[in-house]
Amino acid sequence: MTSSQQPIVRLEQADCLAFLAALSDASVDVIVTDPAYSGMNEWLQLGNGRIVGQYADKGTEDGKWFQEFQDSEANYGRFLSQCQRVLNPNTGHIYIMFDSYSLLSLGPLVRDYFAVKNLITWDKVHIGMGHYFRRRHEYIIFATTSNKRKLRHQSFPDVWRFKRLHRAPYATQKPVELFQAMIHASAEPGFTVCDPFMGSGSSAIAALKNDCHYLGSDIAADAVQLAQERVAAYQQTGQDILQLKPASLPDEKVFWE
Ligand SMILES: C[S@@+](CC[C@H](N)C(=O)[O-])C[C@H]1O[C@@H](n2cnc3c(N)ncnc32)[C@H](O)[C@@H]1O
Repeated sequence: MTSSQQPIVRLEQADCLAFLAALSDASVDVIVTDPAYSGMNEWLQLGNGRIVGQYADKGTEDGKWFQEFQDSEANYGRFLSQCQRVLNPNTGHIYIMFDSYSLLSLGPLVRDYFAVKNLITWDKVHIGMGHYFRRRHEYIIFATTSNKRKLRHQSFPDVWRFKRLHRAPYATQKPVELFQAMIHASAEPGFTVCDPFMGSGSSAIAALKNDCHYLGSDIAADAVQLAQERVAAYQQTGQDILQLKPASLPDEKVFWE
């Protein structure tokens, strides 16, 4: 992509499986994604008054919980199989985020479809909710479709420290820096990046910052509208209207600078 060309950005309201099924084989270079797993929430039996909103109302118009992806092994296998199909078999890289519950239940399935290379830890700096110990980290599995394409540099660490967002406009909004780290490590300018669980479009902003094309979907209409407004504002002004402050730590150099 030359500097005069605008990247292609497609944001759709769709179920992740339908969205991926409509993409051509080998049409994506890098997948970065933060799925809405149902396992941890069902296991913890949230929504009994301790958490804002009722978990049982998830995905409804008035409910505060967003819809989740039913993470049975069969459904997750369908998702991974579609990811495998749309990724370029020679060069594809994939980053999938996990909470600790889903990592143990679904993480091993990733090996059935991809060559798993790393388990990255996102240190969120500040503690969040928790069951027994309060959670301060999440995981990201990094995997590839073949051994042919390496990362852009060999010096990147597998622990990333970015402050989690506090009271962000979207319920589960993640720092753009998290996706910037993934995309910077794996994508050249002009590559196509895809996120089938895009939420508020943090990964879209990260793709644009790396001069990449972007294909994103979310099942929720409010998420898609937020992502559309966010991307449009970023393309017009260069400002990210949903994350006004950096999540990186002032005393730590991020590896894309
Ligand atoms: C953890 S959030 C992603 C947040 C996003 N990374 C951000 O920074 O805003 C997961 C998203 O998956 C969406 N979702 C749930 N089930 C889905 C499905 N079957 N297909 C596509 N999106 C789904 C939810 O609406 C939610 O926005």
